[in-house]
Amino acid sequence: MNYSIRPMQSTDIPEVFEIDKASAVLYWPERSYHFEVEQNEASRPFVAVGSDGKILGFIVFWLIIDEAHLANFAVCAKARCMGIGRALLNHGLRVCYEGGARISFLEVRAGNAPAIHLYESTGYHTESIRKQYYQDNHEDALLMNLDPEEYEEVVRN
Ligand SMILES: CC(C)(COP(=O)(O)OP(=O)(O)OC[C@H]1O[C@@H](n2cnc3c(N)ncnc32)[C@H](O)[C@@H]1OP(=O)(O)O)[C@@H](O)C(=O)NCCC(=O)NCCS
Repeated sequence: MNYSIRPMQSTDIPEVFEIDKASAVLYWPERSYHFEVEQNEASRPFVAVGSDGKILGFIVFWLIIDEAHLANFAVCAKARCMGIGRALLNHGLRVCYEGGARISFLEVRAGNAPAIHLYESTGYHTESIRKQYYQDNHEDALLMNLDPEEYEEVVRN
């Protein structure tokens, strides 16, 4: 599938919101995306856009000094397993690296095998587990880190 990755814009938000809503139980309200795109200087939000102009996926990082926090991330169901998620993750990590990040953090549901596979194959490892962290079903959260050495590998490749 042909697509490109670019910074998220305000006009992308309705489509991004629909993808998030269809992908996550605890999805963000639209106003959170407006804050990320229009106000939050720490935010590094990106979208993958198909050749027809439709949004296929998005990722939001927060760059805080030397830390890249993965805040939100999804690919629309019909475009999954085509490498778009990995491309968005690598792109966000590279931009944050250029902005000074040398370590990255995220949290993920313990049962989210596709996401955990992607993160582990990128170089993240589980640092700790937050028991019953998620409000909807009390699922555990894995707190995953991408340490500086592994982060260097991502940007070198
Ligand atoms: C996680 C997510 C963003 C991955 O996006 P994607 O575009 O499907 O990912 P990719 O196609 O780049 O695949 C990345 C890797 O994950 C693997 N993968 C994807 N879906 C998988 C599945 N259902 N089961 C096992 N592995 C899977 C792919 O095989 C690939 O690994 P490989 O390169 O070794 O083959 C997507 O599944 C999604 O939107 N999920 C719902 C929202 C979500 O969970 N977000 C993350 C919250 S922390």
